[in-house]
Amino acid sequence: ATTLGAAAAQSGRYFGTAVAGGKLGDSQYTTILNREFNSITAENEMKWDHTEPSRNNFTFGSADRIANHARSQGKQLRGHTLVWHSQLPDWVKAIRDANTLRSVMNNHINTVAGRYRGQIHSWDVVNEAFADGGSGQLRPSVFRDVLGNGFIEEAFRTARTADPGAKLCYNDYSIEDWNSAKTQGVYNLVRDFKSRGVPIDCVGLQAHFGSGGAPGTFQTTIANMAALGVDVQITELDIAQAGSTQYANAVKACLNVQRCTGITTWGIRDSDSWRGSENPLLFDRSGNKKPAYESVLAALNGT
Ligand code: G3I
Repeated sequence: ATTLGAAAAQSGRYFGTAVAGGKLGDSQYTTILNREFNSITAENEMKWDHTEPSRNNFTFGSADRIANHARSQGKQLRGHTLVWHSQLPDWVKAIRDANTLRSVMNNHINTVAGRYRGQIHSWDVVNEAFADGGSGQLRPSVFRDVLGNGFIEEAFRTARTADPGAKLCYNDYSIEDWNSAKTQGVYNLVRDFKSRGVPIDCVGLQAHFGSGGAPGTFQTTIANMAALGVDVQITELDIAQAGSTQYANAVKACLNVQRCTGITTWGIRDSDSWRGSENPLLFDRSGNKKPAYESVLAALNGT
């Protein structure tokens, strides 16, 4: 196959990208998007600050634009994200009463996931809830501090009702190395949810890598998470300097695990990346395919 999406589809996987709604009028951007990728994640537009800037005042204009583009182009749509401590409006951060926050969180999930019910392939229900470093515990946030650790379970149960057809993912960064306390924290959460019947279908490994690429244990982490009975998705892949070998190895780690079902890069051209001058993506600032593009395509084609 000659495009990333078609090549990934040969093994039943998707190959997606984060999309910034404001760039859909850029014909170079949209040409590459429509040609190469068969899944879309809104880079910012489905986040809480965009969708509910003040309490119970929902604004879906920019998210709808991306959802409509995905639908009209026949692309899968990943939902990103329902509950996250960042890009969270101040009015939510200020809530101190548990009953109020519980009802606000569930109303947000019901309204946002409800609006796109039936259209979302996978939702990042909870994003980045674990602390960095060696604790293996949840990070401080209004959700943890006011509702306790159980906010994650509550969010997943609410999301299941709001959109029963969507796969429900826990998504985080720096959980790619098996030998890290943060990875173990997420693993234990998923194992606990599966053992108690809390609805969870997938783990998203963001995969924002330095120039060395994925850690040597990346495939082990994917396989061990999958063995818990969930899909694994690489949800925000980018690699500083975009080495071809590093990109091919990250993709192969997914292809080697049956339940690793899709890969998303966090942007299209280097100029679209949140990482400034690191040039971590598959297309250069002029929209040309980089060497890493060719190595990823070859890996997806098994050649
Ligand atoms: O749109 C405004 C613009 O009008 C304004 O002039 C400008 C000045 O700061 O800000 C623009 O908004 C920025 C927005 O990106 C759009 O470019 C925000 O400041 C900036 O904070 C925001 O950054 C996003 C970041 O999440 C916020 O946390 C990045 O685009 C986005 O790529 C990044 O994505 C996250 C994932 O959601 C979760 N995982 C990590 C990943 C990378 O940080």
